[in-house]
Amino acid sequence: MRRQSQHVTPATERLALRVFLALAATGLWACGPADEPNATDHGPIAEGVMAKMGDPIPTASAEQLATFARGLKVAKHRFTRAEGLGPAFNITFCAGCHEKPAIGGSAGLYRNFFLAAKRLPDGAYLPATSAGKSGGVIRMYDYAPGRPSRPEVDPAINIVAQRNAIPFFGVGLLAALSNDEILERADPEDRDGDGISGRANWDRGFVGRFGRKAQTVSIEGFIRGPLFNHLGITTTPLTDELRAKLPVDSSGGGKTSADAGIDADPLRRAATIRAALADLRANAQAAAPDEPNSDDDGVPDPEMSIQDLFDLVSYAMLLAAPQIEPETEQSARGRKIFDQIGCDGCHTPRLKGPRGLLPVYSDLLLHDMGPDLADGLEQGLAKGNEFRTQPLWGIAAVGPYLHDGRAGTLREAILAHGGEGQRARDKAAALDDAAYADLEDFLLSLGGRDQASPGLIPPETPIGAVGSAGGPVRELDAQEQSAFLAGREEFDRERSYGVGAGSPRMNGDSCRACHFEPAIGGSGPRGVNVMRHGLLGTDGGFVVPAIGTILHKSTRLRGSTNSPQKETAIFEHRQTPHLFGLGLIDAIAAETIAAGADPEDADGDGIRGRVSWVDGGRVGRFGWKAQVPSIVEFVRDGIAMELGMTLPFVPGLTFGLLQDDDGVADPELETVVADRIAFYLQELAPPPRTSTDPTAEAAGEKVFTEIGCAGCHTPSLPSARGPVGLYSDLLLHTILPEGSVGIEEASAGMRDFRTAPLWGLGHSQPYWHTGEADTIEQAIELHDGEAMKSRESYTALSDDKRQQLLAFLRSL
Ligand code: HEC
Ligand code: HEC
Ligand code: HEC
Ligand code: HEC
Repeated sequence: MRRQSQHVTPATERLALRVFLALAATGLWACGPADEPNATDHGPIAEGVMAKMGDPIPTASAEQLATFARGLKVAKHRFTRAEGLGPAFNITFCAGCHEKPAIGGSAGLYRNFFLAAKRLPDGAYLPATSAGKSGGVIRMYDYAPGRPSRPEVDPAINIVAQRNAIPFFGVGLLAALSNDEILERADPEDRDGDGISGRANWDRGFVGRFGRKAQTVSIEGFIRGPLFNHLGITTTPLTDELRAKLPVDSSGGGKTSADAGIDADPLRRAATIRAALADLRANAQAAAPDEPNSDDDGVPDPEMSIQDLFDLVSYAMLLAAPQIEPETEQSARGRKIFDQIGCDGCHTPRLKGPRGLLPVYSDLLLHDMGPDLADGLEQGLAKGNEFRTQPLWGIAAVGPYLHDGRAGTLREAILAHGGEGQRARDKAAALDDAAYADLEDFLLSLGGRDQASPGLIPPETPIGAVGSAGGPVRELDAQEQSAFLAGREEFDRERSYGVGAGSPRMNGDSCRACHFEPAIGGSGPRGVNVMRHGLLGTDGGFVVPAIGTILHKSTRLRGSTNSPQKETAIFEHRQTPHLFGLGLIDAIAAETIAAGADPEDADGDGIRGRVSWVDGGRVGRFGWKAQVPSIVEFVRDGIAMELGMTLPFVPGLTFGLLQDDDGVADPELETVVADRIAFYLQELAPPPRTSTDPTAEAAGEKVFTEIGCAGCHTPSLPSARGPVGLYSDLLLHTILPEGSVGIEEASAGMRDFRTAPLWGLGHSQPYWHTGEADTIEQAIELHDGEAMKSRESYTALSDDKRQQLLAFLRSL
């Protein structure tokens, strides 16, 4: 529907109307004046609202810009366990899900999360409670001792959906829209007979506008929610005083003149009043957004200061709307097609805010999108098959598309429209190639085309300096430079379901998804840990679960939470290590590694060191358990186990997946793609050393040797490419306390791990194979088994010596 002009008031709605008037009188429910002419065409856009994605609105004051900068810092901050991360969590920083093409944007499939609910036999609907009272977010990680590392999911859950992040560029402008501006287009009964209805969702008496189901009106709510649900970071609501200082009134409805009085023609809203009442009832059951939240991780609540929360909310509100491109002949043709085939029936080109017309390309209303897109989740008034029309501003740079990211391309997104969108979809499907190209060009002109990338960074981003983090290990000639860039692009590239990501299970949609700190190719924070799991046999031995030892984080199977089998007794986090300098490790001769082994402890120093024999006689060197012999094979393994994609058979290489079960023809990638990635990794420079206090660092290096750290963390090994300063013997040591259970892999037993290389330690937190240690000190204290003597010497160090040791380790 476009605009509602006829308003009928059935007698049955009179009672509701009285309630409405009472509500309005309390001020709880502010409403605007009657119909004003509304631009549904592509009319002139308000001045000063658009900018490059990620930038603040051009009209922001100096003070607002300072708040914006502080808020951006909070959005990027990686929360540690000491700061209150968890106990259960999905991610360690806010911007991780909103990173593309700039902070505030969207994210690849790898950041999808699960939302779950229950439908009881009597038909009652209950949101899942796994994340506590605020709703059905399933959390994927937990470090709390005595609890499973992958929190248990209520077995009664029978509705599961995924959510892909929504970019929030311009949300401050949407927050300022009056309720009326949205309600005006609602046509719940499809009175105009165009096959498109459109209903408002309600949040505490205001028209909801944020979220996939328009379930929320408050930006503050949409920030406190994820902080608690995904990071386990607790907050208290902003005070009235602080709220008054926000750039936009986020309490609901927006600060528009329209909100001042009661509608002269309130009857026309009667149809929505029942809805609002039901919503108020529903909200009474859920936690009020104005309640402080709390958790049991031992860190005092609230874990985020109210000032940080204020800065974060202000930052989100100040983000500009994406810059729409000037019209060209082609995009003008595409615009006409967009209107002709009825896309504008829901993707309303302009909404009118206090600053003027905004190019939102959404009515912010709910539409039935048909059984295929339906996810069964109910939020507020939104039913299982209803979604908010997704705004199209900035569309070029924010894929994948749709609520669960299932569409890798615009065409896939359009073709997935069903229900009320079926008619427009069929017309789009019937367009000839030229007309479709025009339509797509128009969509791309709605912003972000100049910032779009197949991954996180534009492929042409210059190569870093030789020896820098993410740069090459040596001067590359022109041909090698383009090979390095091609490899980096493949490493960074996000893969969609359409090209075969997910086997059907997966951990990430790109290599960069996990390896990105402090630069592409680096390590990963806890939110991308790989989860391993296992069963215990009756004799206490290790038993591989039916799906293998990787307990994937994500799946393309709809309705699945990817839960472990019930008998799972062992969980093991694997933190993502950095890949800097790996080509040098690859160049160390197998004999060199084997020469350091002392399996029987012949020298009697308490330190044995065993070669990780894999694959019938080859020396393993990569991975926390040295379970993989070469870079080429780890690349194949990563493509198979992390991305869930298949490769052709290559004689002599056992790793990788030749076939999977996701409906996409195998092989899903050509060998040349794996080769490009392998070349890139071969040439990545080792982590640069940073020195801040050379005297202390030199003294610390001596301590390191004196207390026996170097007994395993061999400072340097010779290689075909020169000495490699990795601080590891690449051997397996029993390092966990007696009685610990873990994954058995290749020749490594439950308690055995490869000596972790220490180069890059200053920039690769968190630490330990589990990532459980916030600090280097904590990692040292976790050493047990063969390292017991060395750890005790460390504990006995004077404060001075300990500081010197840490200064040395941080400089690596
Ligand atoms: C785990 C991933 C994840 C994290 C972390 C996350 N978000 Fe989101 N965000 C989403 C998803 C998914 C949606 C859509 C959710 C829905 O409707 O169910 C969303 C929606 C939003 C919206 C509403 C946008 C709109 O137009 O409707 C805002 C604003 C927002 N997020 C801000 C933030 C801020 C600020 C943080 C950090 C405190 C944050 N998010 C953390 C995934 C995330
Ligand atoms: C009946 C209302 C309706 C009509 C008509 C409609 N859409 Fe949509 N559109 C939606 C809704 C609702 C969504 C969000 C669906 C979801 O999240 O799964 C959406 C999503 C999209 C997306 C994905 C956006 C994103 O960022 O995920 C694109 C692209 C899109 N529509 C384009 C079009 C085009 C082009 C047309 C005309 C052929 C069209 N739509 C017609 C309601 C509609
Ligand atoms: C879901 C996160 C994730 C994704 C996606 C991912 N990795 Fe990893 N990567 C890890 C983890 C965790 C480890 C440590 C694995 C282990 O030993 O159990 C690792 C280890 C490695 C290693 C060995 C590093 C060393 O020091 O021994 C290489 C090489 C590697 N990954 C390459 C890749 C490539 C190439 C891709 C893309 C095809 C990729 N990774 C995708 C998380 C990831
Ligand atoms: C017996 C061999 C051995 C000795 C001795 C030893 N380490 Fe380790 N170290 C390891 C192993 C094995 C790991 C990987 C353990 C894991 O993550 O499960 C490791 C991990 C580490 C880590 C964490 C690295 C990361 O990226 O997470 C640090 C830091 C570290 N060691 C420092 C030291 C220091 C300092 C000493 C001397 C006090 C020392 N180690 C003594 C074997 C040893």
